[in-house]
Amino acid sequence: MDHFQYADGRLHAEAVPLSTIAEAVGTPFYCYSTATLERHFRAFETAFADMAPTICFAVKSNSNIAVLRFLAGLGAGADVVSGGETTRALAAGVPADRIVYSGVGKTAEEVAAALKAGIWQINLESEPELETVARVAQSLGVTATVGIRINPDVDANTHAKISTGKAENKFGIDWMRTREVYARAASMPNIHIVGLALHIGSQLLDLEPYRAAYSRMGQLVETLRADGQTVERLDLGGGLGIGYGPNPSQTPADYAEVVRTALAGLDCELTLEPGRAIAGNAGVLVTKVIYIKEGATRKFAIVDAAMNDLMRPALYDAHHDIVPVAEAAADAHLFDMDVVGPICETGDTFATNRPLPEIKAGDLLALRTAGAYGAVMASMYNARALPPEVLVKDDTFHVVRQRIGVDDMLARESVPDWLTEP
Ligand code: LLP
Repeated sequence: MDHFQYADGRLHAEAVPLSTIAEAVGTPFYCYSTATLERHFRAFETAFADMAPTICFAVKSNSNIAVLRFLAGLGAGADVVSGGETTRALAAGVPADRIVYSGVGKTAEEVAAALKAGIWQINLESEPELETVARVAQSLGVTATVGIRINPDVDANTHAKISTGKAENKFGIDWMRTREVYARAASMPNIHIVGLALHIGSQLLDLEPYRAAYSRMGQLVETLRADGQTVERLDLGGGLGIGYGPNPSQTPADYAEVVRTALAGLDCELTLEPGRAIAGNAGVLVTKVIYIKEGATRKFAIVDAAMNDLMRPALYDAHHDIVPVAEAAADAHLFDMDVVGPICETGDTFATNRPLPEIKAGDLLALRTAGAYGAVMASMYNARALPPEVLVKDDTFHVVRQRIGVDDMLARESVPDWLTEP
């Protein structure tokens, strides 16, 4: 359930008509609903209440600082994967001691910034990274609190491009090497090793891979403890899949039950890193139809949003529901349409042969489930602007990121003298 519903024939974000926002900021734009973000965050909190995990929102899914601030106000921490995301989380007011840092290529500079900020935990993804973190911590005279991200070699049964837990993926440390690496970390003076982490992939609609990965993690905890190691924390990653229209979703409650059974009795502090399941259905991308074009074999709605604004369909063949902002009659005739952007690539297609009510130039459409991995993945390809982002609460809205356009780009470019001189 989300808070993008029709009222008085118009699609609203909570109590604000999306057409009102379109008039104020132009199109295309992203719009997020605070009530939906809160509903999803609370669903995790409630489902996991007996395990009281730290819920670190995956900043990569939506890094707008107003969104992060709102979630932090509900008690969320942050899962970050770069120095930039650490800066964003801190700027949004996420307490440093609720920030967990993963990522396969953390540079010494990024590690130093994270340690100086006093972040809660760094998840190590390789043995050379352990050496780097130890060296940086020593040079700063601090102790780094770390977890080992294991690669459990489990197939997450999701899209190949967002699967991360197989042995052939670049993520984590081969689970078979956990004991050696844990022991090495435990022996280092500037390292405080607290536990294990894993993240096997994103948009998981099947819970069995989680069960397999967490069971493996649980067995490793027992092995490590038998070795005399202390294991206090388990970071369970993110990845819970959501409905994008045709596919069914899993609920945080179903997921919690898997965690409860797979990790029962281990007495570890838990961290969760959900992104999509919190932000995905809390956002829409609103676009305006520029032309309706009758092709030889297809009918195209050419809209003013493009693959640079929302990459998921082009990159993963992802489905996003598309609905008119002005409500169609319940018995409206549906026409098969291709919804495409203006970019000069055929990949710039949001939907193919999608049944839609009659639409005409000037109409507004909303691409649903765009709150996660939407604005964060936008680019300025074709010298297009980065779309603005708007946050709604009840009957008010605020532009939480302005449109960043070609003038902003040009202000950062320059031509060398030797090209301008005659
Ligand atoms: N933790 C780690 C270490 C991750 O790498 C990710 C996502 C998450 C948590 C959050 O996963 P979520 O709960 O959002 O599924 N751009 C792709 C998704 C990439 C996910 C990358 N890692 C997409 O649009 O589908």
